[in-house]
Amino acid sequence: MDKLIIKGMNPLRGEVSVSGAKNAVLPILAASVMPRSNVKISNIPHLHDVTTTIDLLGRMGVSIMMDEEMNIHLDPAKIKKFFAPYDLVKTMRSSILVLGPLLTRFGEAKVSLPGGCAIGTRPVNMHIKALREMGANIEISDGYIIAKCKRLKGASIKFPESSVTGTENIIMAACLADGKTEIINAAKEPEVIDLSNFLVKMGAKISGHGTNKIEIEGVSELEGTNYSVLPDRIETGTFLVAGAITGGKIKIKNTVSSHVTIIIKKLREAGADINFTPDTIELDMRGNRPSPINIETGPYPQFPTDMQAQITALNSIASGSSEIKENIFENRFMHVQEMNRMGANIVVRNNCAFINGVDSLIGAPVMATDLRASASLILAGLVASGTTEIGRIYHIDRGYDCIEEKLKQLGAKIERVPM
Ligand code: EPU
Repeated sequence: MDKLIIKGMNPLRGEVSVSGAKNAVLPILAASVMPRSNVKISNIPHLHDVTTTIDLLGRMGVSIMMDEEMNIHLDPAKIKKFFAPYDLVKTMRSSILVLGPLLTRFGEAKVSLPGGCAIGTRPVNMHIKALREMGANIEISDGYIIAKCKRLKGASIKFPESSVTGTENIIMAACLADGKTEIINAAKEPEVIDLSNFLVKMGAKISGHGTNKIEIEGVSELEGTNYSVLPDRIETGTFLVAGAITGGKIKIKNTVSSHVTIIIKKLREAGADINFTPDTIELDMRGNRPSPINIETGPYPQFPTDMQAQITALNSIASGSSEIKENIFENRFMHVQEMNRMGANIVVRNNCAFINGVDSLIGAPVMATDLRASASLILAGLVASGTTEIGRIYHIDRGYDCIEEKLKQLGAKIERVPM
């Protein structure tokens, strides 16, 4: 198992390009089982979760090929198993995203129930209830969701709270259902819009994506298409914080600045000078220590929970005290104990972290506990004195494309070494 070694206190400078979005490519790959003909997906990030999804689709019988330009070609014609086994689902919860597509296209699906995960219990009850409302017969047996249907029927689905993958599963299921489906209290995340745009390109009839009421008129079949995945807004935000926490000056390319409006607003409050065009963002911290910022996470367009740990790192060395409220996941402060081992002064009470900014962090061996926690420990390591060693970095490889190469390009002293 590899670890990352970081020598900190080095302001980042230069340009970095953002990869395709993890949370858009995963549902898009899942939806590739739905059309009758081939799909070509480009701007694919090099991530472990993408490899796991390809493994999952391959085991179902989807033919998959990657060309020299790293586009993925998928041919769903010979799919013969409608099955997502526990050994894959336990490593990647988003495997649940094949449930809607398999059920609506083939009338059956057997998908392992994802268990809890490091950041919370994360049930999928809303996915199951909504599919039942669309006429699916669903049993839970031996830890598996076993779903069958003739043809799903359009329905009015009201989610009690906003769910990203819940909304995505039902959009996909509704595309080939009989009649009209409406999703009320739908998630508005850019990744939901990207998936919807992909489905529309394949012939689906979807409207209202990007608002909290989405309407889908079922069609009898979809045809394959070419599609380029949108840039990752969380990778964008993570690099912006890397620039800010080190007092550096960076330019981010191949992004969508309108998807990180709230992150830009908060980093300006922290003292960063930020200029942007639709697809680039320049941040200049002018060597200054960040001012503390208070955040509260919520569904898009509110502050993303996937950026909470990174802002905790920023606040840990800010010039004052701050408060972070996590409203989405009940256990998403695992990075705090590790940051405190590096000299941070953070207390967690219920779903709030109270942070007293310290003058400096001190490098230490630390352990990554989940994807975004790992990113926040890298950020802490970049600003700490001495050497930080981060273990269990397989978490980071799930969701960040070549993070250490990209940070090196910005002047960071970071190496991956075998344990
Ligand atoms: N929830 C339920 N029942 C459900 C579904 C969700 O109670 O059936 C609850 C969850 O426990 C949570 C809230 O609803 O408290 C919102 O969860 P959501 O369903 O929106 O999360 P998700 O779809 O499982 C996606 C991302 C996460 C991201 C969240 C929130 C993907 C593949 N994953 O998860 O990404 O944190 O939305 O924005 O899109 C990450 O990239 O690090 C990551 C965890």
